[in-house]
Amino acid sequence: MAEKKRHGATRTNPQPVGVPSPELEAHLRQQYAELAYIAGGLAHEIKNPLSTIRLNLDLLAEDLDPDNPAHRRMLRKLELVQRECERLEGIVEEFLQFARASELHREACDLNALVQDLVEFLGPTMAEHRIEVAFYPRSDLPLVRVDRDLLKQALLNLLLNARDAMPEGGQIVIATQPGDGDVQVTVIDTGVGMPREILEKIFHPFFSTRRHGTGLGLPTVRKIVEAHGGKVTVESEPGKGSKFTIHLPVGERG
Ligand SMILES: Nc1ncnc2c1ncn2[C@@H]1O[C@H](COP(=O)(O)OP(=O)(O)O)[C@@H](O)[C@H]1O
Ligand SMILES: [Mg+2]
Repeated sequence: MAEKKRHGATRTNPQPVGVPSPELEAHLRQQYAELAYIAGGLAHEIKNPLSTIRLNLDLLAEDLDPDNPAHRRMLRKLELVQRECERLEGIVEEFLQFARASELHREACDLNALVQDLVEFLGPTMAEHRIEVAFYPRSDLPLVRVDRDLLKQALLNLLLNARDAMPEGGQIVIATQPGDGDVQVTVIDTGVGMPREILEKIFHPFFSTRRHGTGLGLPTVRKIVEAHGGKVTVESEPGKGSKFTIHLPVGERG
């Protein structure tokens, strides 16, 4: 969206194509901040009544008797509404994560320990999906100054995507390594992979090929990593799998 506006505006502006003037850039930035503020507020406003609705649906379900045929019919409908409510809660939660993704609280962090925590946390769901997880930590990894919770969120999003790309089970390999002025965390899966047309769109907000996907997972990963001054790279081959790498600069202050 922002891209379209930029190109449109260059017609009345002697700037090179695609480069907005400082005034336009400031204007767009302000508009973006305003919109982000409104959208974040809206998501919060939706979140609270939604959890009241779901709580009361749960209470209602508890009062119904599954041995009574009329109640069973009600229960089926109730379950459908409960599921949709959970889905909406998930969307709102992911949206809020996206909105919050650039407010950093940095501290020195051992990335290996952070990944190890996540691997343990995800153990049950990975086992349930018949996915083997192997983690190769590099012992000579420098500490990085990062926002632990946000970075965990970014890695979690990558690992859940890897899981979702392997409906029949498979393998995930996670590795950490020092690079040239950065440290890298790589997540490789043996899942469905992606053709080029998909690969081009995966970081667009709301792009998803999954039935109940929000399409906010990877945009959030990118936003978090870029807020740290880093970048996300991806390689993928249909039918073989995908490899996502988070690059984080070392010696970053903040
Ligand atoms: N590891 C992966 N393997 C295959 N496809 C992936 C992988 N990670 C992401 N994708 C593709 O990128 C899309 C966007 O991912 P994401 O932003 O996390 O949203 P969501 O998971 O809600 O669909 C997914 O719907 C899927 O098509
Ligand atoms: Mg996802």
